[in-house]
Amino acid sequence: MFVLVKKKINFKPKKILDLACGTGLSGEELIKIYKKSYICGSDISSKSLLIAEKKKIYKDLKKYNFENRYNYRIKFDLITMIGAMTYCKNFNKLFENIDFYLNQKGYFIFSHRVDLWEKQDFYNILENLYNNFKISHISRPCSYLPKNTNFKNKIKIRIVLLQKC
Ligand SMILES: C[S@@+](CC[C@H](N)C(=O)[O-])C[C@H]1O[C@@H](n2cnc3c(N)ncnc32)[C@H](O)[C@@H]1O
Repeated sequence: MFVLVKKKINFKPKKILDLACGTGLSGEELIKIYKKSYICGSDISSKSLLIAEKKKIYKDLKKYNFENRYNYRIKFDLITMIGAMTYCKNFNKLFENIDFYLNQKGYFIFSHRVDLWEKQDFYNILENLYNNFKISHISRPCSYLPKNTNFKNKIKIRIVLLQKC
């Protein structure tokens, strides 16, 4: 998933925020590509954060709802949110926060389930809801967790890369 970011972004993000990082599976992938980056994580679940902490990937872990604003002292070059758009109730709030956390020209990569995408008319949301972002890439529907037999081929996702403009 993050190979796409590496292909599309022509700089190495120094500071990365992994929103809804859960137990750190997304962080494990991130650190393989961006070994020297300063990676922060956040999630709503204390239990997951405890597991993520043990992996020693994240320099900083915070517990908060991604629809609420956390006042970081730094800005980020890249924000990732994998497998969590499903839980978003207020896209406006989320995108306002992403805009606030990102450096100018920074990127936001996330996945979203195709079934919900269609139900929510999500492309329209992306185009109209919050116009401080440029759509850099929207993938074709692809398998979510292809190695996991519970999900294999049942749930398709799209991967979206936005750039703050
Ligand atoms: C499917 S997991 C994905 C975790 C991780 N990004 C990964 O790739 O493995 C979804 C995560 O979203 C978190 N989550 C759900 N709603 C949230 C919210 N409103 N704010 C922050 N985190 C949330 C859950 O606690 C869970 O850890």
